[in-house]
Amino acid sequence: KIKSVLAWEALDSRGTPTVACQVTLSDGSCGEATVPAGASTGRHEAKELRDGDHRYEGRGVGKAVANVNTVLFEAVRGLSADDQHAVDSAMRAEDGTSDLSKLGANAVLAISIATALASANSRGLPLYQSEALGEPLLPLPMVNIISGGAHAGRSIDVQDFLAVPVGARRFSEAIEWAARVRAGTAEELSSQGWPTSLVADEGGLSATLPSNRSALDLLVKGIERAGLRPGSDVGIAIDIAATQLLATDGRYHLAADERHLGPEEFIDELHDWCRHYPIVSLEDALGEDDWDGWAEATKRLQGVQILGDDLFTTHIKRLQRGIDESVANAVLVKPNQIGTLTDALDVVKLAQRAGYATVLSARSGETEDNWLADFAVGWRTGQIKVGSTMRSERTAKWNRLLRLEAELGADNIEYAGAAAITPSIQ
Ligand code: PGA
Ligand code: ZN
Repeated sequence: KIKSVLAWEALDSRGTPTVACQVTLSDGSCGEATVPAGASTGRHEAKELRDGDHRYEGRGVGKAVANVNTVLFEAVRGLSADDQHAVDSAMRAEDGTSDLSKLGANAVLAISIATALASANSRGLPLYQSEALGEPLLPLPMVNIISGGAHAGRSIDVQDFLAVPVGARRFSEAIEWAARVRAGTAEELSSQGWPTSLVADEGGLSATLPSNRSALDLLVKGIERAGLRPGSDVGIAIDIAATQLLATDGRYHLAADERHLGPEEFIDELHDWCRHYPIVSLEDALGEDDWDGWAEATKRLQGVQILGDDLFTTHIKRLQRGIDESVANAVLVKPNQIGTLTDALDVVKLAQRAGYATVLSARSGETEDNWLADFAVGWRTGQIKVGSTMRSERTAKWNRLLRLEAELGADNIEYAGAAAITPSIQ
């Protein structure tokens, strides 16, 4: 049973305050979690509570911390940590808003995750086992190589260019290939006269390239320099974060390309990118409320994983609408977009029933915690996206997965591999 809760203000990887919390049970077991934060957040996400005062440019989380220590603690006090649903519902009821804006989604998520960790510790199980929906499954990694958009001072419009090592036979090989692709891409960038030692929010490279296509060219060359084959060894995923590109006239503004494109023209452009480059996954190709554009893109961009992040915001009703209207074929899952583990897991289960692929994802503002890795393995999400192969808040997650492969033995633990990419369209 939950005996005490202690929250404090910590810092995330961008140096921005965030909520950390420890949940202690009556048997003495503890769980500790620190909450991540996005930069290109979707409009329909649950709401973080920020102080808005003189500290940390208004981004302090003193109020959210106080809510954890007082009202939220009172709401969960004495509940069984093994009953995640009861704990999460009690907090939702205490908050009373659908987006958790009263007490703060950052406050609620801190207790939600710390409770799951305390429950696992109390039962003497590693988190992935205590969260298991089936046999453990190591996910296919999607690894950030080049960053743009809100994660890199808008050096290029597209937010994320990622390597997907589709040909790797095991998780550790996939990570080694991704690291090699990052090094190869850095070499190529350097040969074009760009500095490569500065890193973006998720540990990726960044440069004010002349066009979005030139970033794709760069990544293809980086894969080749790594001694790997673009397409069969390493595919490309992109996260356009298109809501960020929407101008007031409803057109998408590609500043690097000096072009303004309407939704139809933008889909044409993306179609062209998919034909010329080995793109296996396209995230947030259109604005977060353009359901018609999304339906059209899903129809036209056959054979590509069409992944909804800001579109779905890990919200079950929005995912259900997507399924009903044949919009997208994969969902990005970020626990802090919705505020509780129960809600995030419900989205994973609905997606799995509907044949949508699931990609568990970190945020651009991360922490040194590694619980995300265990949820990916236990929930069998099949894919995971946590940033690049450097910066400790990123490697904390990769390293946890590498450890699980070593501990369980690569031959004993299933590895999702390329088959995880949108099963419904393969
Ligand atoms: P965010 O970016 O954490 O800044 O929202 C991650 C993503 O868009 O996938
Ligand atoms: Zn995204």
